[in-house]
Amino acid sequence: MCKNKKFKFSLLNKFGCNYIHSAFFISLSIFIFSCQNTSNKTILKNANPTFEDVAPIIFKNCTPCHRTGESGPFELMNYENVKKYANKIKFVTQTRYMPPWPADSKYTHFIGERILTEVEIETIKIWVENKMPLGDATKIPTPPTFYYGSFFGKPDTIIRFKDLVPIKGNGADHFYIIKLPMQFSKDTFVRYFEFVPSHRKLAHHINGHLINYQEGSKKNISNGISYSIDNYKDYKDLYQQMNILNDDGTFPTLTPNTVYYLPGFVPPKYPSGIGGYKVNKTSAIFLKNIHFGPSNKDVLDSSFINIFYGPKPKRPIFETQLGTFGVSKIEPELILQPNKIQTFTTTLALDADISILSINPHMHLLGKAFWAFAIKPNGDTIPLIKIHKWDFKWQYYYTFEHPLKIAKGTTIKVFGTFDNTTKNRNNPNRPPKLVTQGEGVKSMQTTEEMFQFIFTYLPYQNGDEKINLKE
Ligand code: HEC
Repeated sequence: MCKNKKFKFSLLNKFGCNYIHSAFFISLSIFIFSCQNTSNKTILKNANPTFEDVAPIIFKNCTPCHRTGESGPFELMNYENVKKYANKIKFVTQTRYMPPWPADSKYTHFIGERILTEVEIETIKIWVENKMPLGDATKIPTPPTFYYGSFFGKPDTIIRFKDLVPIKGNGADHFYIIKLPMQFSKDTFVRYFEFVPSHRKLAHHINGHLINYQEGSKKNISNGISYSIDNYKDYKDLYQQMNILNDDGTFPTLTPNTVYYLPGFVPPKYPSGIGGYKVNKTSAIFLKNIHFGPSNKDVLDSSFINIFYGPKPKRPIFETQLGTFGVSKIEPELILQPNKIQTFTTTLALDADISILSINPHMHLLGKAFWAFAIKPNGDTIPLIKIHKWDFKWQYYYTFEHPLKIAKGTTIKVFGTFDNTTKNRNNPNRPPKLVTQGEGVKSMQTTEEMFQFIFTYLPYQNGDEKINLKE
């Protein structure tokens, strides 16, 4: 439904400013922002905070990741843990490195925003400077309980790799194709799939499709090889070896992009009836592109997918992407010269009314700043997202609190700034070299670049703005 149209420069001029220049100011404002945070004098509830004051801050904002099985490198579950890492905790909260939330909350708000208040940051600071007093042990809240192996709780069912997938410790990127057969006793509705990587440091991105086999079209889905290195020119052979096709050789029904993972990603969960999938009795998850970053030792991957059932979907969700592999062109072409900081843009004019649910900015290691907004035909802007300091590790699907109506004739405009200098600590090339986006899926090496803005949406219906996506 969305067509790619070139952005009219006259629209920009209505604002009397040049956005390319403004994009450079993004990086300047990081410094101003962080100075403000440390200079503010804040009044605390308790001038001499004890662990009683600190524990709720940690349990709410840190423990969901800092526990066994999740991404945080150590546990923050109790007084001993928190005391042990106290100085680091003080540092990472002062600098706002933790909890990770790259989006500027002064620009737009999203569900699940992970941001500490000034009071919370100051409470931690004073507590650490006072040598971490425990206080009254009886008043400390009990740590929250979590379900091991899921961000959401106990899934209705779990599907696992049929065979563990070997990743060689040869320092190279690895691309795989993996099939996970599914057999249910009857057709089922799934609300969302949660991919849980077994090696979070290696899982770079996963994009999987749902294959539904019609009754009688597939005898045994679990026959065939379950994984393969993705080095095929012609996938027909591989589909045969993996036993993907219908028994009569035709293609089964495929719903693209049902299972997704990026560093820091948690699947967005929408209110019942919005989104979701019908999964047939005989079906499979087909991880068509799965990318593990370089490893320095041989490992076996045993990632799995949590499945949460739901009601029959009423309003299917659509997804569109701008930029790399998407519906809109990047201007100028994404060619990153060594030792340069460059800004690129991509634009999409909408030709129907839509309700945006979630947005996902995507760049790799050379990303520096990201900014997206929409311009209505009357010249008003709708802010979408601003990221002052890109961090490859945190690529959330940011979900709005209410569907955001974007009317026909509105133009989405995205800017991405890339830093291909040695000052970028994440630059994989020393000295910096020319970097492009390469061609095709296998070009998505960590060391090649992408500039994408993905959004999920519903065709607009009256009253969408009032839906509470938080539930
Ligand atoms: C969304 C998940 C997540 C949340 C929420 C989170 N962390 Fe982390 N934390 C991580 C991951 C992953 C790392 C390791 C990667 C990194 O350093 O960026 C990390 C690293 C750290 C480090 C080590 C930094 C270093 O370089 O040694 C500290 C300290 C820390 N977190 C404290 C906290 C505190 C305190 C909070 C809450 C205020 C918090 N984290 C919230 C995921 C999280």
